Amino acid sequence: MGKLLLVGCGKMGGAMLEGWLARGLAASDVIVAEPAEALRPKKVRGVASTAEVDETPEIVVLAVKPQSMDGVLPDMKRFADSGSVFLSIAAGKTLKYFAGHLGASAKIVRSMPNTPAAVRQGITVATPSQGVSAEEKKRCHDLLEAVGQVLWVEDEALMDPVTALSGSGPAYVFLLVEAMAAAGAKLGLTPEMAMQLARATVAGSGELLKQSVEPATQLRINVTSPGGTTAEALKVLMADDGIQPVFDKALAAASRRSKELAG
Ligand SMILES: NC(=O)c1ccc[n+]([C@@H]2O[C@H](COP(=O)([O-])OP(=O)(O)OC[C@H]3O[C@@H](n4cnc5c(N)ncnc54)[C@H](OP(=O)(O)O)[C@@H]3O)[C@@H](O)[C@H]2O)c1
Repeated sequence: MGKLLLVGCGKMGGAMLEGWLARGLAASDVIVAEPAEALRPKKVRGVASTAEVDETPEIVVLAVKPQSMDGVLPDMKRFADSGSVFLSIAAGKTLKYFAGHLGASAKIVRSMPNTPAAVRQGITVATPSQGVSAEEKKRCHDLLEAVGQVLWVEDEALMDPVTALSGSGPAYVFLLVEAMAAAGAKLGLTPEMAMQLARATVAGSGELLKQSVEPATQLRINVTSPGGTTAEALKVLMADDGIQPVFDKALAAASRRSKELAG
């Protein structure tokens, strides 16, 4: 295996690096390019700028903010010309955008992880450009899998709904905790207790979902006794003006915005 160059070692890049090392990737096979010295891990070779990297990496993982990407790519053209594969996790940056900077024949994988990657419970959807071999896809798959599950799509247009669902999704779940806590406080619980109950309920239900083989619908039915309290709440949540139309509107808005940002 050749070298892996990680460009940007912030929240997401840092989590991925930790995952790779935990899965047995040799520290000597990684170079981290990151301007902030404090973010450059001591155990791997760290450089302030990719200009300091002479050897051609086998894979370049692009983990800078989308708005920093224009500044990073000019120096990457030399690696693209030498056959490196690029794995981007930047939201909204399309295969066409990368081809525009790195050349039409550059090998690029565009991916969208999500923030539970920080605890290796993320889910990433990836899409390859033409010319990425099955073996190169597998290498990228393994790298992404270090922080959670990985799915592939051939149709890049699906990255917009993916961004709307799993990319932005953690924020919806955090909002759910906030909304449940606020509703509990309105019924007389202290805000602190309401928040503790809401947080533990969502986190515990998430773990149950993860560990159970049953579909979400069945898990819901399992805790809904006919005529009971849960059934009463679900009548409101599942009404025609309940949460489904709100989620339909929210995800459509996020997907639209993802498309707009991609240009
Ligand atoms: N966080 C998420 O939940 C999430 C989810 C899905 C996708 N993503 C994607 O992941 C990417 C990284 O996000 P993040 O949250 O990890 O951002 P972040 O914490 O800001 O990390 C990006 C890092 O890249 C560094 N950087 C900037 N310019 C650089 C350059 N020329 N060479 C090397 N490093 C450079 C930044 O340094 P400075 O701060 O000094 O500029 C920063 O430390 C983004 O493109 C984002 O769209 C993130």
